[in-house]
Amino acid sequence: MRLPFLKIEKIIFKFMNIYERKILPHLVDTFCSSGPTSKQRQKIIPRAKGNILEVGIGTGLNISFYDPKKVNKIWGLEPSRDMQILARKAINKTEFNVNFLTMPCEELDMEDNSFDTIVFTYVLCTIPNLKQALTNIHRVLKPNGVILFSEHGIAPDKCVQTMQNFINPIWKKIAGGCNLNRNIPKILESSGFEVYENNQMYIPGYKFSSYNFWGEARKKIV
Ligand SMILES: C[S@@+](CC[C@H](N)C(=O)[O-])C[C@H]1O[C@@H](n2cnc3c(N)ncnc32)[C@H](O)[C@@H]1O
Repeated sequence: MRLPFLKIEKIIFKFMNIYERKILPHLVDTFCSSGPTSKQRQKIIPRAKGNILEVGIGTGLNISFYDPKKVNKIWGLEPSRDMQILARKAINKTEFNVNFLTMPCEELDMEDNSFDTIVFTYVLCTIPNLKQALTNIHRVLKPNGVILFSEHGIAPDKCVQTMQNFINPIWKKIAGGCNLNRNIPKILESSGFEVYENNQMYIPGYKFSSYNFWGEARKKIV
């Protein structure tokens, strides 16, 4: 009796594998390049300077917003090689050279105090072990370095929060592990960073996925 179920499980597993490798990168590229999201990128990416680490560079949607006059070198951390294929195409259209790091942020092995700027855009929602990832980020960020972030997350309205919590389990499966209900500034603050610029608002889009946080953070002085 279990045989047909095993077959169905295998088919679902195979489908999800193809979906995540071949379809998801294109969906991310389309949905994350909407007008309102690009406006958010424009607000923070031109501030990046020096040696820059972009975490979860995805399909390279930030690349055209960097200011060449401020950039020394960009490292793009991206665990998915399928995302990297699209990112390389975007990067090739610009004057930038990106050094790819093919690993999850939880396994980041760069030297201590290596980066002047760390960029997070629409990635803190997805990283599974944020505590480990942010411990690594704290280690590799220079003492006077800056985190630039633009992320979506938990909305302030109770009814939107209820919707976010309700949809999250299924959303996570179809959106590559993305969580709708993370409180990004709170997570940064509890990971040894001071969020000294903390902007928040709904950007145009579905309420459950459009509450955005953006700004700057640095290491807390202890
Ligand atoms: C929604 S996409 C956003 C991509 C890009 N940051 C942007 O702004 O368009 C989330 C990205 O996080 C990456 N990701 C998933 N798990 C990760 C991890 N553990 N560490 C770093 N990046 C991760 C995914 O491969 C994907 O490229």
